[in-house]
Amino acid sequence: MEPLAVLALSLFLGALISLISLVVSVSRKAPPQQSDEHSKVSNGVNEKNVASKKQKLLRSRKEKIQQHVFTHPLLAASLKGHTGNVSCLDFSSNGKYLASCADDRTVRIWSTKDFLERDHRCMRANVELDHATHVCFSPDSRAFITWLANEETIRVFKMIKKDDGSFTFTAAPEDFPKRHKAPIVNIGIAETGKFIMSASSDTTILIWDLKGEVLATINTNQMNNAYATISPCGRFVASCGFITDVKVWEVCFNKSGVFQEVVRAFDLKGHSAGIYSFAFSNDSRRMATISKDGTWKLWDTDVQYKQQQDPYLLLTMKCDVSDSCRIALSPDARVVAISNGFNITVHNAKTGKQEEEYVNVHGEEIADLAFDINRRFLVSCGDRALRVFHNVVGYRAVIDEMEGGLKKATTNAMRERLQLQIDSAKNALDAFCTKKQ
Ligand SMILES: *[C@@H]1O[C@H](CO)[C@@H](O)[C@H](O)[C@H]1NC(C)=O
Ligand SMILES: *[C@@H]1O[C@H](CO)[C@@H](O)[C@H](O)[C@H]1NC(C)=O
Ligand SMILES: *[C@@H]1O[C@H](CO)[C@@H](O)[C@H](O)[C@H]1NC(C)=O
Repeated sequence: MEPLAVLALSLFLGALISLISLVVSVSRKAPPQQSDEHSKVSNGVNEKNVASKKQKLLRSRKEKIQQHVFTHPLLAASLKGHTGNVSCLDFSSNGKYLASCADDRTVRIWSTKDFLERDHRCMRANVELDHATHVCFSPDSRAFITWLANEETIRVFKMIKKDDGSFTFTAAPEDFPKRHKAPIVNIGIAETGKFIMSASSDTTILIWDLKGEVLATINTNQMNNAYATISPCGRFVASCGFITDVKVWEVCFNKSGVFQEVVRAFDLKGHSAGIYSFAFSNDSRRMATISKDGTWKLWDTDVQYKQQQDPYLLLTMKCDVSDSCRIALSPDARVVAISNGFNITVHNAKTGKQEEEYVNVHGEEIADLAFDINRRFLVSCGDRALRVFHNVVGYRAVIDEMEGGLKKATTNAMRERLQLQIDSAKNALDAFCTKKQ
């Protein structure tokens, strides 16, 4: 025999012998009732199984203990199902679904209509051999795109509706080519269905067609990108980062829908330090920003930028900030929500006043925050559960505004219409508000 083979054999025998003695000593040490239960000493494998089962039990008990507990009178639901931390949320534009993705290798699709039910069904799409850090619905609510953590590119999933109303999910045969050189900060699909955006934490934003061809590369020239997104109208792409402005570009297509160019549109200028995050209202006419300078701002972006008109600053309010801050604007621009660490504050966007505060909502830093398109709920994520809050600040803002309108209303028809809206908002508030102001 070759000397190497001899060595290998003796190592093997040595390992075998020590394994046998281990098994024997383990079974000897086992308490009597246990070896009775599992009969015949030699059953080392069985014993090992028992041990690992015990370990698993312990672990799952530990995990249960670690599950963060949060209760609040305005909490409408906690959506549970993910077994890993949730990093991103997106509502479908038909209002029916909420998508969430986590490091448990799944994307879950929740039905918004059972948020107020006792059970929250969700459908699960598996992200094979990877996990998604970002998820975003297509405008027709029949597909979604994900950012793959390991493969570092975009994967498209189609949702095919079955007769019972549930879905099967199929990944497109090929993922997008890998083109980013730094971690991703966000992805998106334009509501027009004309392009996809991905932004990385260096200064790169890529504009893709739906098949995965790069149409344009934007260099944001701002040292780094903290956040970027597509405006809900599908016309603009905006980004923020180390510099004090939010930069906004228009992605231009010609009349037959062929991509032309990306041009600078306007900037939001007014903060005195870097910007952590920003958000649009659903008609893209309002934006909210939050900055390292310790303030959040509300902007009127309904401007003719081609006539050199600049956005108007509507409001500046002080707030606590940290690197983890996110800001969300309700679709009707009446409410601003800010997450900072584990906490959320909710503000009336007209007065700037903080009306609600939710403390220690998640066991991990809050990763994402969004209003549903019918502005009934605010949803947050960070640990394994999604927290759904009633949008009370939104209902109160509607009541205030309509009551103001009632005083000025000149016809009975107007008064009746306003009164109807007031009543419906008041009913909604009464239904779940235990503590009333
Ligand atoms: C749009 O651009 C494409 C390619 O540049 C061109 O073939 C097409 O005629 C253009 N359509 C219009 C309406 O200008
Ligand atoms: C924006 O949201 C409001 C309130 O939910 C709705 O009435 C309006 O139609 C939406 N507008 C767009 C452009 O989606
Ligand atoms: C969250 O709120 C609690 C209570 O107000 C406060 O002690 C804590 O510092 C807050 N955390 C952050 C990150 O603001």
